[in-house]
Amino acid sequence: MAEKQIGKILYTQEDITRRAKEIGAQIDKDYEGEEVIFLGTLKGSVPWLVDIMKYTTVPSSVDFITASSYGSSMTSSGVVKITYEPAINMYKKNVIVVEDIIDTGNTLKYLLAKLEERGPKSVRVCSMLNKEPRRTTNLHADYVGFEIDDLFVIGYGLDYDQKFRGLPYISYIEGDDVELL
Ligand code: IMP
Ligand code: MG
Repeated sequence: MAEKQIGKILYTQEDITRRAKEIGAQIDKDYEGEEVIFLGTLKGSVPWLVDIMKYTTVPSSVDFITASSYGSSMTSSGVVKITYEPAINMYKKNVIVVEDIIDTGNTLKYLLAKLEERGPKSVRVCSMLNKEPRRTTNLHADYVGFEIDDLFVIGYGLDYDQKFRGLPYISYIEGDDVELL
């Protein structure tokens, strides 16, 4: 069965793999002789997290956290809730928060403040996408896969109304496209 393309493709699997390898190599360099915890934000970060783990050799463990600020719409509600707490001990550990996308930065800002309470040695952020033009907070990600414009993107973990997370590429949808989904 031929695969139906959803939206307009921004980055292919090859593009994403290439960036994950580059960032993986950088993480290995930055954490030489150390250990890290990859903390994936559910659900969107999962495919990117798997890539980052594949292309790093630094000793690592993994856990997940869920912070939600989005309902089913395309805009953030601005209200952040932690709905799943990681069990892993982060005290005096190096944590790398792995995100799908940073938009306003609202979710991440809240999440980082929460993590600080656990007394980690260090916290860095590795986001697949960065939508800098939309930022309303003074947040910066340490590792960014791709800088994007103010587009609504789906695929590779990202959803529209909880769908399309499994697409093996990142694409964007606009106006009329939404009615076709
Ligand atoms: P922020 O709090 O505004 O930074 O929103 C971050 C969260 O909103 C991300 O983790 C995504 O779940 C969601 N989000 C932001 N932009 C998009 C997008 O273009 N497509 C799909 N989800 C998005
Ligand atoms: Mg998310």
